[in-house]
Amino acid sequence: MCDGVSVRAIVAEAGTPIYIYSARAIREAYTAIDRAFAGYPHAIHYALKANSTLAIVRLLRSLGSRADANSGGEIRVAQRAGFEPREIVFTGVGKTYEELEHAIASGVGTINAESAGELDRIAGLAHAMGREARVALRVNPDIDAKSHPNISTGLKTNKFGVPIEEARAIYRERRQLKGLRFAGVHVHIGSQITTADPLRRAATVLVTLALELRDDGVPLEHVDLGGGLGIAYEGRPMITADEYAAAVLPELKRAGIPVVLEPGRAIVGHSGALVARVVDTKRYPNGRQFAVLDAGMTELMRPALYGSFHRIIPVSPRSAEESSWDVVGPICESSDVFGRDRILPPLEVDDLVAVLDTGAYGAVMASNYNRRPLAPEVLVDQGSWATIRRRQTIDDLLALEQ
Ligand code: LLP
Repeated sequence: MCDGVSVRAIVAEAGTPIYIYSARAIREAYTAIDRAFAGYPHAIHYALKANSTLAIVRLLRSLGSRADANSGGEIRVAQRAGFEPREIVFTGVGKTYEELEHAIASGVGTINAESAGELDRIAGLAHAMGREARVALRVNPDIDAKSHPNISTGLKTNKFGVPIEEARAIYRERRQLKGLRFAGVHVHIGSQITTADPLRRAATVLVTLALELRDDGVPLEHVDLGGGLGIAYEGRPMITADEYAAAVLPELKRAGIPVVLEPGRAIVGHSGALVARVVDTKRYPNGRQFAVLDAGMTELMRPALYGSFHRIIPVSPRSAEESSWDVVGPICESSDVFGRDRILPPLEVDDLVAVLDTGAYGAVMASNYNRRPLAPEVLVDQGSWATIRRRQTIDDLLALEQ
């Protein structure tokens, strides 16, 4: 069941593979972060990259969230979902002229610039348009987020931001630049961060910089701590929103400047499950058993890309002895594995399984490899469900081709 709605019933109508999300889980996760920061001026800018299906973005907007967009496409999706441009922060490591132009012309709240060169390009564009772009510089504090290397972004070996030791001079030198208004400072050291310490240290570095800039005559309106709060994929205790707030708030209070947060995973991660059907089973003489699903790395890339762990459960468990299974996808890639050596009840062809905690970085990272149409997405809310994105068809796919 998903919040009292039968998964079987959803699948009977909408088929597999399919993403099923709980609106309740999204509300609860958003509210937990909002409450944790309640005593301090804050704005939550939901990171659309985690899941940007319109209905999900609209739901977050209805809760009072603002938006963090990482591309021109995400800015436009946020606008379609009803966000005012000023409610959007625009982040991202390689912004094109076209993206910057749209952001400046539409009056995006803050552009988080990734380099001195980008600041200068923004200034040039904004000045030419007779505009003033609100910007924050993303700093790279050289802090190890202690997450997976592919999703750690705060080390000096990473491509993100400007080295912290250069930041102050970059602001100082551009203080008078026409077309720019320095609104804040920005940091994002990585994703799926599971301990408070790196988050606290990043806050310390950022607040220290903000205070130095104030001394330099560059008063800021906010410090943006980025996203990164992890979730409990393994079901073990995890840093909570309250613990996160408790770690960074003492730092923030040193400057008293409002904080911007850009959480993605922590808001939508737990809310979703990828439901798939077993299409084949096999057992090798060495005892290894495989359950082949009708979903694979095309629907959920995280295990193949990061070796990441997702719990897998049968939708209707059979009551017989459990054994070890490799749960795999149908794609012709050996990395197309959702889980190895999973202890599961017997699985048979046509059984349904749910791959849990796939609300973030699931559907958004899907591909059409092997000409597989994108899976539909369904939102369960208050006892009923609705399709929020229909299944892609082969005609949809071929519509782009001549
Ligand atoms: N802000 C910035 C500038 C970011 O780069 C990101 C994520 C976020 C906010 C949101 O981070 P979150 O709160 O979701 O951790 N595809 C990977 C995750 C990549 C995250 C990239 N940046 C995965 O499947 O784990």
